[in-house]
Formats: sequence, C-alpha cells, structure tokens
Amino acid sequence: MWAQTATLPMNVILAPSQKALTPHLEIRGGRRLEGEIRVSGAKNSALVLMAACLLSSDDLKLRNMPALSDIQGMGEILESLGVTMNRGEGFVELNASGLNQSSPPYELVNGLRASFFCIGPLLARTGVARVPLPGGCQIGARPVVEHVKGLKALGAQVTIEHGVVSAVVPGRGHRLTGGKIHLDCPSVGATETLMMAAALADGETTIENAAQEPEVVDLAGLIIAMGGKVRGAGTPTITIVGMERLHGADYMVIPDRIEAGTLLLAGAITRSKLRITPLIPEHLGAVLSKLEEAGCTLESDGIGMTISADRVRAVDLRTQPFPGFPTDLQAPFMSLLATAEGTSVITEAIFENRLQHVAELQRMGAAIRTQGNTAFIEGVPFLSGAPVTGSDLRASAAMVLAGLAAEGTTLVQGLKHLDRGYDRLEEKLRSVGASIERHDVG
Ligand code: UD1
Repeated sequence: MWAQTATLPMNVILAPSQKALTPHLEIRGGRRLEGEIRVSGAKNSALVLMAACLLSSDDLKLRNMPALSDIQGMGEILESLGVTMNRGEGFVELNASGLNQSSPPYELVNGLRASFFCIGPLLARTGVARVPLPGGCQIGARPVVEHVKGLKALGAQVTIEHGVVSAVVPGRGHRLTGGKIHLDCPSVGATETLMMAAALADGETTIENAAQEPEVVDLAGLIIAMGGKVRGAGTPTITIVGMERLHGADYMVIPDRIEAGTLLLAGAITRSKLRITPLIPEHLGAVLSKLEEAGCTLESDGIGMTISADRVRAVDLRTQPFPGFPTDLQAPFMSLLATAEGTSVITEAIFENRLQHVAELQRMGAAIRTQGNTAFIEGVPFLSGAPVTGSDLRASAAMVLAGLAAEGTTLVQGLKHLDRGYDRLEEKLRSVGASIERHDVG
C-alpha cells in the first residue's frame, strides 16, 4: 500500500480555499528520503546553560548552539539583566560581570518557560530575584512549586504576588545555605534551578528524586567546568558542594535528542533509510526500543544512527520521566503510528493537555480516538494532505512528519512554535529529498 502512495503525482494543485494566509510550510508528501542529517545542539540544554552564565563574572563560551527563536529570546532576557552577549555561527559568548538587574521584564519572560530557571543563579549570585511566573501553556498548567519549595529549603524567603515570584536571601552575606531537598516529582526545571542555586550556596546540597534527563547531566558538566562540584547527575540523587565563586568556561552543548528522535521518525514515516548524526543512543533508549518494536531497523556506528523502515507495526507507549519515553516525542511518534499496521495505544502521563495534535491528524485521515489522556490509533494505509496547524512545538513537528508521508500537499501553519525548537528543519529535510518549502506570506 505504501508503494502506491509513494508514487502519487507531486503536482497536486491547491484549491483556493486551501491557501494559507499565514507563514506556513508546504509539503508535498510521499517521497522517500535518503542520506544523512546533522542534529543541532540541544535546545533544552542550551537555554539552561545560557542561564548558568549568571553564576560567574567571567566569560562563558557555549558551542554547538542551535539557531532557534527560543535561544534568541533567552539572550534578550539575559541582556535585560546586564549580561553582554556575542553570537557567532554556532556559538555564543556571554559575560555577566555587569549584572545589574534582578528582575527580567514580563514581556520577555512570557512564553519562554525556561527563562524562569534564571531565578536560581540570580538568587545565588545577588541574593535577590524577582521573576514573573511563567504561566501555563498549550500543553498544561506547568507549576513551579517544586522550584520555590527548593529555594526555600536553601534559605530564601519567597513570596508570590501579582504574578511575580520574589525571592531574597536574608542575612548579611545574602548567601544561600546548602540543604536537603526532596522533590515531589522529578521536575527537570526544578532540578536545574536548584542545581544552579546550590552551586554558589554555603555548604552541601542534596536533591532527592531529581530529574535524570541528559540535559541535567549537561548542566552538571558545565558547573564542573566552571569550577563547581556536582556528583550523581543522571541518578535520582544529586549532591552539589557550593563554591564561593565559579569561573568561566568553554563548553559544548550536547546534541538535541528530541530533534534526533524527530528525524529518525522522519525516516520511519517515509519508509526510508536515513542516517542521523550525532546521536547518543543512551539519550534515546526508550524511543529506539519502540522504533525497533515497530519493525524499524537501527544501526549505530558510534557517532550516528541509521534507520531503515519498510513495514511499521503498531506499538503501545506511555510517556514517563527519563529514562522513560519522552513526552516531547509523543506527538511525533503518534504521526508514525497513524500509518502503522494495527492499533496502537499512547498514554500521555506527563502533561494534562498534550493530545491536541490528534484533531489535526484526524483532519489528515488518521483514525484516532481518545479517552482522557489516552489515544487509540488505528493505523491507516495512507494519510492525506490538508492544511493543518501545530498547536505547540512538538505538535508542529508531528504535522511536518505526517505531511512528509501524506498523499498530496500539506500546509503546516503555526511556524512560530516550530521555529522555537527546530533548527532549519525544512532545510535539513530538503537535503535528503523531501519536498518542503517555507512561505512567509500566504
Ligand atoms: C522540561 C522541558 C520540556 C519537557 C519537560 C518534561 C525544558 C526547557 N523543557 O520542561 O521540553 O517537555 O521537561 O520532560 O527543559 N511539575 C509539578 N510541579 C512543579 C514542576 C513540574 O507538578 O513544580 C510537573 C509538571 O506539571 C509536569 C511534570 O512535572 O507534569 C514535568 O514538568 P517539568 O519536568 O518541570 O518540565 P519543564 O522543566 O518545565
């Protein structure tokens, strides 16, 4: 059945009602892909590593930085605090010796959740921080109670009024004190906020039930490179010995495991053979297992991973904190399963509102029904191109994948989400044979 869809004419003409009036990607689906795609630096690491520049007055150089609007946004927030920044091709140099503000403006913080994590290093370095609450987003409420609870355990006085979290360290030296923190849930952001806060605290801090994500390990690597002491990152118990000061560093961001997973899925959904590099298999264990269970062949060569897909079978999965299946690949994986043989069951267990892509996939002919946070996906022989909108970053990626596989033309709107987290996605996909064009106006 796939072979039929792959040979459909590519010159489908859109009816006037299908023309998109906002920036969009136009994808002519059904092409097999072939070749190699390079993965950029990890967005979620890079954002937090940028915030860590606040911990020192020396230069911090970060390499392998992805070109993303979120990175631009984080840079603007840091500049508003007095940080100087120099961006070049694939790197950024930051210097927080002129740090003169403790309160990033709401207009910049709003919409970039990771910017809230600045509260940890700001408080540790200056003894005071006022950061607007990040608020909810499309995928869920996204509380920060664990961040706040942890900062209090390190001696901060924290109040939340009029949508702003104000934290101050009382006492003459305004220095946080190491302490024992037990997180009620292994929040990635809380773990990172508290690691940065603890890095300059007086004494030793233990974070129990810490997040074990690779981005947490990357942050630990940077703190160590800056002269700090961190043990246990990547396990549920992290110990940080606070230092009086940290120095500068020259540090390389890890490859983006979510981008790598999305690109492997591009290979799978188009039943192609693609090499994705660099890819660290340990960062994607649960995803690689599910791809193999679905019938894909994976070959690691030590630097990259080659995926070959022919027939794809249904699989069941449930999102979990690392090392479980990542919530950020749930939507993209659903696109693949919409084309698999048999019925798959996906349960989203991290965020309460992260199945919004289902309705859009249905518009492309997917047979999916939902019950609460569980989706039952009955694979169909082919999807059909349609105008669709990605409601959040990963939902947008799911739409692009579906478009690559669909018969006819798909117009993906909602690019402001996609551009937050995927570095030149259409360029990369085009380089391996996809027909995908960006149109800035309708
Ligand atoms: C990070 C990632 C995001 C990913 C998410 C889960 C960044 C910039 N973003 O987000 O891409 O989807 O991890 O892997 O790194 N929670 C609480 N109380 C809290 C904090 C969190 O109940 O105080 C809950 C959340 O509602 C959610 C779960 O914990 O259900 C995971 O959230 P968290 O790990 O904090 O996600 P982020 O760090 O915001």
